[in-house]
Amino acid sequence: MSQLLGVALTGTGSSLPARVVRNDEFTDALHLDTSDEWIRTRTGIRERRFAGPGETSATLGTEAARRALESAKLDPTDLDLVVCATVTPDLMCPATANLIQAGLGCRTVPAFDLTAACSGFLYALSVGAQYVRTGAARHALIVGADVLTRTLDFTDRNSCILFGDGAGAVVLSATPVLNAGVRQVRLYSDGTRPDLIQVPSKVTPNPAPGSGLQPRLEYIRLVGREVFRFAVTRMIELIGQAEADCREMGLGGIDVLIPHQVNQRIIDAAIESCGFPPEKVVVNLDRYGNTSAASVPIALDEALRSGRCRPGDTVVLVAFGGGLTWSSAILTL
Ligand SMILES: CC(C)(COP(=O)(O)OP(=O)(O)OC[C@H]1O[C@@H](n2cnc3c(N)ncnc32)[C@H](O)[C@@H]1OP(=O)(O)O)[C@@H](O)C(=O)NCCC(=O)NCCS
Repeated sequence: MSQLLGVALTGTGSSLPARVVRNDEFTDALHLDTSDEWIRTRTGIRERRFAGPGETSATLGTEAARRALESAKLDPTDLDLVVCATVTPDLMCPATANLIQAGLGCRTVPAFDLTAACSGFLYALSVGAQYVRTGAARHALIVGADVLTRTLDFTDRNSCILFGDGAGAVVLSATPVLNAGVRQVRLYSDGTRPDLIQVPSKVTPNPAPGSGLQPRLEYIRLVGREVFRFAVTRMIELIGQAEADCREMGLGGIDVLIPHQVNQRIIDAAIESCGFPPEKVVVNLDRYGNTSAASVPIALDEALRSGRCRPGDTVVLVAFGGGLTWSSAILTL
């Protein structure tokens, strides 16, 4: 095999639907037994975005990708790979990545989707980084896009208040500089608890009437309290491991931590247990809720554009979600 390459982060972009849904809408318009105060204090969410008619994972993903290419100063025809992480594809086939590829006007390069729920972006980042590191792709587009609000049961106050829609994207480019860009990605999964977070598929079998089996679950289902415990435990492990990995790589401490935007209390509990400084943590869940595979790349894009992360910073991404899956990445900007 030829020599391995560095994987530079050359561009980021994000795209959010225009429609803002504030917490009060759940009580005022949907007559749900909840309150702005409960949602804010138990989750940290104040508002989220809902995809409008015609907006899908592919349309939001294409816009985020366009912005990422613009910031990378690359043309869609420069791309050698398109990977889209989503649990809400426009269609089962073709892949959302194919729709994004066509929307951008890419060449006939490989394009495929990947499903790892809220860890999806980090899973896709790992795939893209390996294409680039080995020289199989010079420039790779990695998108996280989800419209989970299309799967919500608006009578279930435990779940429908948590999610929003959006997309984020990054461009990875080969570089001879080995100690820059994506330094490491760690991925984990445990398939023994599929019951904790489920999003139904169009092909989920519907049991025959009278069979005694559970009817098809049409909506996203969560066991919130158990997911909460899982998320805190895994986030503590991921941060501890990232700190140890940074030391081993000779990097200083973590400059910026970008966690999956799920619940402020999950983030607070994990960083408090690790003694990690809250001022180094990027949070935007108050504005967007949980956007699933889009959550980490949207926060990364905003952190870069606002100057919150600067060239040379060590940035750690952590995510966890359905599968169960959990994951982390270390970036040197
Ligand atoms: C869902 C979540 C916000 C609930 O917060 P919590 O503090 O764990 O709350 P609990 O589940 O213990 O419920 C406490 C009470 O609040 C009620 N409650 C739940 N949602 C509510 C809402 N939107 N408004 C008002 N009350 C609500 C519950 O019914 C429960 O009432 P009870 O004690 O009478 O049964 C929290 O567990 C969470 O964020 N979990 C992870 C979410 C997730 O799975 N995300 C996707 C995966 S990445």
